[in-house]
Amino acid sequence: MKDSKEKMTARAAAVSPSAFPSGFVWGVAAAAAQVEGAAEEEGKGLSIWDVFAKRPGAVHNGDTPAVACDHYHRFRQDFDLMAAFGMKNYRLSIAWPRIMPDGVGSVNRRGLDFYHRLIDAVLERGITPWVTMFHWDLPQALEARGGWPMRLVADTFADYADEIVKAYGDRVKHWITLNEIEVFLDNGYGSGRHAPGRKEPAGVVNQAFHHALLCHGHGVRAVRQHGGAGARVGLTDNSTVAIPLAETPEDIAAAKRHFVGSKNCRILEPIYRGGYGPDYLAFTSGWLPQIAPGDFELIAQPTDFLGMNIYSGTCVRQGPGGKPQVVPYPGHYPTADSPWLRLNPRGLYWGPREAAEVYGVKEVVITENGAGYDDAPPVDGEVLDLHRLDYLRACLRELRRGIADGNRVSGYFAWSFMDNFEWADGYDRRFGLVYNDFKTQVRTPKASAHWYSRVIRGNALV
Ligand code: FCB
Repeated sequence: MKDSKEKMTARAAAVSPSAFPSGFVWGVAAAAAQVEGAAEEEGKGLSIWDVFAKRPGAVHNGDTPAVACDHYHRFRQDFDLMAAFGMKNYRLSIAWPRIMPDGVGSVNRRGLDFYHRLIDAVLERGITPWVTMFHWDLPQALEARGGWPMRLVADTFADYADEIVKAYGDRVKHWITLNEIEVFLDNGYGSGRHAPGRKEPAGVVNQAFHHALLCHGHGVRAVRQHGGAGARVGLTDNSTVAIPLAETPEDIAAAKRHFVGSKNCRILEPIYRGGYGPDYLAFTSGWLPQIAPGDFELIAQPTDFLGMNIYSGTCVRQGPGGKPQVVPYPGHYPTADSPWLRLNPRGLYWGPREAAEVYGVKEVVITENGAGYDDAPPVDGEVLDLHRLDYLRACLRELRRGIADGNRVSGYFAWSFMDNFEWADGYDRRFGLVYNDFKTQVRTPKASAHWYSRVIRGNALV
């Protein structure tokens, strides 16, 4: 009786508009510097975030990533919890300064061993690791030599990527080269809001972008050379998603034009079109970085998917003269406590569609989506984050609508498994499905974790 009931539910899910395609990848995401802590243990070199966070006023409340979620020492329990909630995939990142404390040269064996243990522990619980090679924690030793504006960073990244793919490629088959180039460079070297906190002229920042694109190319090359059978690789980008205000043909065309003409062209044009073309030149006022022979062959190698981090979107309509016009964010729309986060679930529909229609992207993985709130501590063991749950559900509904319309999206990762070090916003801005008490390191799954677990188990919206 029980069996047949389950079968009936499964059959209903297969045809229901809330069901996801079979084999859809469900996961949660995190990054080394945000969860690990152990900032100076077992031979790890300092990262630019370790140093930046100590600067007075740099990070909210003077918080630092020194301890974070202490995941470095608690990863087994954390993975037990992930497995208990039915998580199937975990997107983690490797801390470059753990592997190469001096940025260049010798490899720290204890750092390499840590990720051997970590990856094994993930796999032992039936969870598939998705590994990001770089999620913002540049070795301080490289910053001391000039940081991202120096081409040296790309050369050393090539060695680092080779090391980690050779070390873990037998077990890791899903690789992400870099996370959100635009955010760590515009904030790190432009506005100075992120590590290393520099304010450089636009030309210097553009040169840094070129070097990051080279790193992406080296990451792809390393996976092709050493990744073994079945290895897949892509970039994670935080493309600006242009949301057509009225979803009329006119507004849709304007939104697509905005998708190309906005900052996305700095990353997606060189990767998908193999050069700095008219959109890039228009966006950067004709300024070109220094380019060496062979750079675009490296940068534009074919990848297997585009990782998109989608939290929001920009509303666009056809304006005067047929030009795209950005529409101010409607004041009554729901907001999150993160000041940069203007919630708009329709980004999950339009982002993958624009990437496909504009740049010919054949497969998208949503590598991050979530909402930051200042959740109150648990009461009677519960955190009722219904605002987050509602928002995530709305996002998944839009993602599902896109898939029904032909968007090729193969996976979705919620940001984040647990509350963690939210960069310059410190520990107050919580994105986790699991509440973390940073004093006691006690983890409490929130309502959103219970809900997401049911979505994953049913492969359908509940
Ligand atoms: C993204 C970052 C991620 C996290 C979320 C909230 O931009 O990639 O590390 O901070 O925002």
